[in-house]
Amino acid sequence: MPFISFEGIDGAGKSSHINWMADWLREQGCVVVTTREPGGTPLGERLRELLLHQAMVADTELLLMFAARAEHLAQVIRPALSRDEWVLSDRFTDASYAYQCGGRGIEPARLSILEQWVQQGLQPDLTLVFDVTPTLARERLRAGDAPDRFEQEQQAFFERVRAVYLTRADAEPQRMRVVDSSQSLAVIREQLRRIVQPVVDKAK
Ligand code: TYD
Repeated sequence: MPFISFEGIDGAGKSSHINWMADWLREQGCVVVTTREPGGTPLGERLRELLLHQAMVADTELLLMFAARAEHLAQVIRPALSRDEWVLSDRFTDASYAYQCGGRGIEPARLSILEQWVQQGLQPDLTLVFDVTPTLARERLRAGDAPDRFEQEQQAFFERVRAVYLTRADAEPQRMRVVDSSQSLAVIREQLRRIVQPVVDKAK
């Protein structure tokens, strides 16, 4: 069954869309696993704590993201796909390209080595990029909890992260779809239905 990842800068609203989409798919009889990165496994959630709150250099950050991802693939994603279940992941490797390469300045060629090592060719079937300006995203985040290491970054960091998402989506239009996340919830959901319904029909 399909593997769908949800991406976007912090504050783009992807988490509420993933929950809605899981419910919508279940109404249609799909068996759905929702999960997140970094995290999704007991070890991954411990690594997430470190990644969000402990100072570290960019290479360590990237390697821990991929350590969590290796565990996530082995314990959650691959088993669910082999049970013929849908997997909806709140972030996956596009986030590493966006944040660690775009945001932190790591060379994409280095990341690509880890990607091949850990994923061995496995890619999401569909990636939804929820796109908003960093200004709007920041307003949305303000209402939330204390900011983590990423949320504390400056506007320019998020401009770079956003630019990588958009460039990647341009380069891979068959896998990645950009959703303008500044629109109303109703409009976004309509767009999501239009994008994902054909995937549901094909999977039946
Ligand atoms: P996020 O989805 O924003 O969690 P929440 O919505 O609960 O705040 O994810 C946590 C952070 O991890 C986010 O700021 C982006 C960052 N991240 C990376 O930098 N690289 C990655 O590969 C992944 C998966 C996440």
